[in-house]
Amino acid sequence: MKILAIETSCDETAAAILEIKEEKDNLNFKVLANIIFSQIESHRVFGGVVPNLAATLHLENILPSIKKSFAKAKIEPQKLDFIAVTSGPGLAPALLVGVNTARTLAWLWQKPLISVNHVEAHLLVNWLEIRKKNIFPAIGLVVSGGHTQLILLKDFGQYQLIGETRDDAAGEAFDKIARLLNLGYPGGPAIEKAAQNFKKVAISLPRPMIKSDNFDFSFSGLKTAVSLLVKERKLTQAEKNEFARAVQKTIIDVLVSKTLRAAKTYQIKTLVLSGGVAANSYLRKEFKKAAKRQSLKLIIPPINYCTDNAVMIGAAAYFKMQRVKDFSCPVNSKIDGTWQKVVTEPDQEFIHVPEDRDFSSE
Ligand code: KG4
Ligand code: ZN
Repeated sequence: MKILAIETSCDETAAAILEIKEEKDNLNFKVLANIIFSQIESHRVFGGVVPNLAATLHLENILPSIKKSFAKAKIEPQKLDFIAVTSGPGLAPALLVGVNTARTLAWLWQKPLISVNHVEAHLLVNWLEIRKKNIFPAIGLVVSGGHTQLILLKDFGQYQLIGETRDDAAGEAFDKIARLLNLGYPGGPAIEKAAQNFKKVAISLPRPMIKSDNFDFSFSGLKTAVSLLVKERKLTQAEKNEFARAVQKTIIDVLVSKTLRAAKTYQIKTLVLSGGVAANSYLRKEFKKAAKRQSLKLIIPPINYCTDNAVMIGAAAYFKMQRVKDFSCPVNSKIDGTWQKVVTEPDQEFIHVPEDRDFSSE
């Protein structure tokens, strides 16, 4: 089975072609092409993603990305079994470019289209490695620029949101604090790099909600705490590095502590990490140590699949296709910038049945 997957929910224009072979005791995912046009340089001057600029750049890059995918995969569109596209959550103008491109191609090539939830895709990219092993029930931690969510995974498509950020996402906190410290954009990698240059941290920062008796997070107070401490001071590079290390440790301490508590409460056997912040090497190391201490299995995507990509959209589409048998032609597919249904989705909501519409003016 071959899938063309498209992702344009934020600032990466991505297209991928996956070949999935269902073998007796295994699933064989082969990534035939994984193309990513990053827009980071264009947004850097603004210190964050500008939605309309993102959409304009997606429009420029989406067809070249798809063309490049076919060249890399060395296949023709006729060989595809279906097309997958992110339809939410994300920036609405950015999503529109991907969804409209996907449905046009699906219509032209007469292929079925599957709309994918971006958050679910972040989690399911791990199945490139997990393949057919049964790891449920699991706790998934999605830590990206837009989301910080703890999700109980009971099975494919059966998710329960057990906690999420009440304000900034973890990646957003990295980005905003890096901006305060003048460390560059995107903030996560910039903070990670600066933190590597400092060892003994004296700064102590609040660990928001670490002891609260729920699984929610809050990171905006951390940004305020840092801004009060650095206010009107001209920091030396060493001081910036120290702040970076303190911020990284604080955010990751909270993520580890709450995730482990959720694992205990729900008595799961596996922890599944995902999202751009999961590329952080300190986070990976701390989670590995913590999982070992608790005898939990830990699954983290390879670093290149943590940040946004289209391979994850293809992987999620494959599993969705297993449970949604009756998806059909895409003329009515929609976008949903605030799509939260990764946790409660009734499967019908994924099916886009074509409607006969009469556009004549008579
Ligand atoms: O998953 P992603 O590519 O996009 C969203 O869906 O939001 O995540 C992007 C986020 C950004 O906030 C970025 O600063 C953060 O992931 N990030 C990191 C690292 N690499 C990316 N945060 C901490 N350490 C990193 N190495
Ligand atoms: Zn993402």
